[in-house]
Parts: sequence; structure tokens; C-alpha cells
Amino acid sequence: MEKKLFSEYKLGDIELKNRIVMSPMTRSRAIGNIPNNLMEEYYSLRADAGLLITEGTSPSPNGLGYSRIPGIFNKEQIEGWRKVTTAVHDKGGKIFVQMMHTGRVSHSLNMPENAKVIAPSALQLEGSIWTDQKELQQYPAPEEMSLQDIKDAIAEFVQGAKNAVDAGFDGIELHGANGYLIEQFISPITNQRTDEYGGSIENRIKFVLEVAQKVTDAIGGNKVGIRVSPYGAANGMKFYDEIEETYAILSKKLSEIGIVYIHIADHSSMGAPEVKPSVKKSIRDNFKGTVILAGGYDAELAEKDLEEDKANLVAFGKPFISNPDLVTKLKNGTELTKPDTTTFYSPGAKGYTDYK
Ligand SMILES: Cc1cc2nc3c(=O)[nH]c(=O)nc-3n(C[C@H](O)[C@H](O)[C@H](O)COP(=O)(O)O)c2cc1C
Repeated sequence: MEKKLFSEYKLGDIELKNRIVMSPMTRSRAIGNIPNNLMEEYYSLRADAGLLITEGTSPSPNGLGYSRIPGIFNKEQIEGWRKVTTAVHDKGGKIFVQMMHTGRVSHSLNMPENAKVIAPSALQLEGSIWTDQKELQQYPAPEEMSLQDIKDAIAEFVQGAKNAVDAGFDGIELHGANGYLIEQFISPITNQRTDEYGGSIENRIKFVLEVAQKVTDAIGGNKVGIRVSPYGAANGMKFYDEIEETYAILSKKLSEIGIVYIHIADHSSMGAPEVKPSVKKSIRDNFKGTVILAGGYDAELAEKDLEEDKANLVAFGKPFISNPDLVTKLKNGTELTKPDTTTFYSPGAKGYTDYK
């Protein structure tokens, strides 16, 4: 019998040729924040996946916290991405762009002039961040966002979503995971506002719900997904008591808005805290659309979770870095090539497009 993992799946109104998703992965090859031919080659080599999700891509100059990450707010970026989506579609693939606003996880050296490091609260992240100019630098204290800044950021997400459709993407994934701007609003660890965007759960999820509603109004819910990481510890995120309740309410509300998927990242296989099965189950039960699970999967575990209906789709990250033909390898049970971690974020083709 054909494995579920290799069976077709209808995501909103697009047909995926299998249930294997390529996880969003920042690869830092976008010199000048513009997608280029090397990136076109990289994504097109992986177009056998049922769905590709791009690396985190900023809808705003203020969201370009890391060096060499792409944007989706100007004409050159849209044109660059158009080449990528065309190459993927030519091979029968489907592709969503991950919209990542880095918020406080940023440094002015990585950003264009006039961009600002902003966050829900002026709480500085401990530790340091890579800059091409001065190597590692301490994270700066972010500026607390004014109500106008919040309005502007939402408008940037909406324009970014429209730009994504213009660039040929099949949809967008809001990056609500891993401690970036959206999660900075969701978590009381990073959101200590006293206005309507902070405090209660309802207030802390107001930003993400407004973004989700407005991008849905702009491009349609079938083109909108979101990634979340409850219990995650990336970028200064920490445990808080209301995690389960927060994601239960959030998933219900996202279901009402009518977005197409929720993608749950579980980084416990990379040393992060356990993501309680209860939170995954509650999202699954509360959300009417598609659920994608990610983190530490191999073919066997993916098949098991699909069979048990824990998810509709399963995402693979690192295996895709070093195995562009991952789908074929998983089908044939071929041994996977291990990725070279030293070239995860380095510029150039090495460790990017040269895996056989
Ligand atoms: C090099 C690298 C870059 C990543 N960049 C992103 C990113 O831009 N956005 C995101 O949501 N997750 C990012 N992740 C997390 C992956 O999407 C994925 O959740 C994680 O690698 C666990 O899945 P895996 O065990 O299949 O690799 C990144 C992971 C790696 C290894």
C-alpha cells in the first residue's frame, strides 16, 4: 500500500503531490536582501517536495535583523522571488514564502539605513548576533513600538502578502514562531505592554490576529498559513503558565478567520524543551484547517504521525539541506547525506547548491 507520506493532498485550493513539506530555513545567501539566481537554483532543486516554504523573508526594512536575509517589500525583491517561484512551478512544485519580521532579534548593522530595531516592549535580548561588518555584536535594546508602529507593521505584512502573490507565490506563512516579532507579542516574557496589545491573553494575541485577519482579507485565507512554536526557547523565549491556554484560544480564533494551515515547530530534537503533546492536540482539535508538524522527523515517524492523524503534512528541515532529492530518498529508503553545519549561513554555493 502506498504510504500516506507520498500521497497527494489538497491544501486549500492547491494540489500537493505529496505530504512532505520543506521547512522554512534561513540560508543567508540573499546579498543585498534580494533573491538571486543561486536561490532560484536551490529552491528549484528541491521542488519535489509537496510544498516548499521559503526561508524567513521580511515584509519590512525593520524586520531584516540578520545579514543577507531576503525581503519582500520592494520591486527588486519581488522580481527576484518571481524567478524562484517560476522555477519551482516549472517543475510542478508549490511554494509559500515565510514572512518573518525579526523584531528585537536584530542589529542595525544588518539593516538598511533608517530602519529601526523595534519590539512590543523595550526588552533587550541577551547574547550576540552576527554582522558581516563587525562579526558578533551584542543585541541592541529595541525601541518599544508605538501604536502607530504597530499599525505600520500590520500594513507591511499586508503589503508583503500582496507582493508575495504578485511574485507568484502560492501563499504566505506568517512566522509566529522562534521568538521573532509575532511571538514577541504573544509571549508575556517579551510583551509587557500595558495597552490593548499587552497583558491578557486576548491582548497579547491581538497583533497576530489582526495580521492574520488583514492578510486574509487581502489575499484570501487559502493562501495564508502560520508557524507557531509553543514551549519554544529560541531567541529568549521562556516558559510561562498560560502557554496551553494561549495556543488553545489562538488556534480557535485562527480557525474562525479561516487561514489554511497551522504549522507547529517542535525543536526538542535540537535540545529545546519538550513541546507537550497536549498543546499539539489542542491546536489540532481547535483548528479546522490543515496541521503541519515539524522537527526531528524521519520517514517512519512522519508516516506514524500521519496515520495517527496528528497532522495532515509533515515538514523536514535539515534533511532537505543536504538531500535535494529527499523525497526520492525517503521513498527508496536510501541513506541520507548529513548536512555540513558550517555552511548553513555562509554566502555562496558551497553547502547550498552543491549537494548531489
Ligand atoms: C539552517 C537553519 C535555518 C532555519 N531557519 C528557519 C527560519 O528561517 N524560519 C523558521 O521558522 N525556522 C527555521 N529553522 C527551523 C527549521 O524550520 C526546522 O523547524 C528545524 O530545523 C527542525 O526540523 P528538522 O529536525 O527537520 O531540521 C531553521 C533551521 C535551520 C537548521
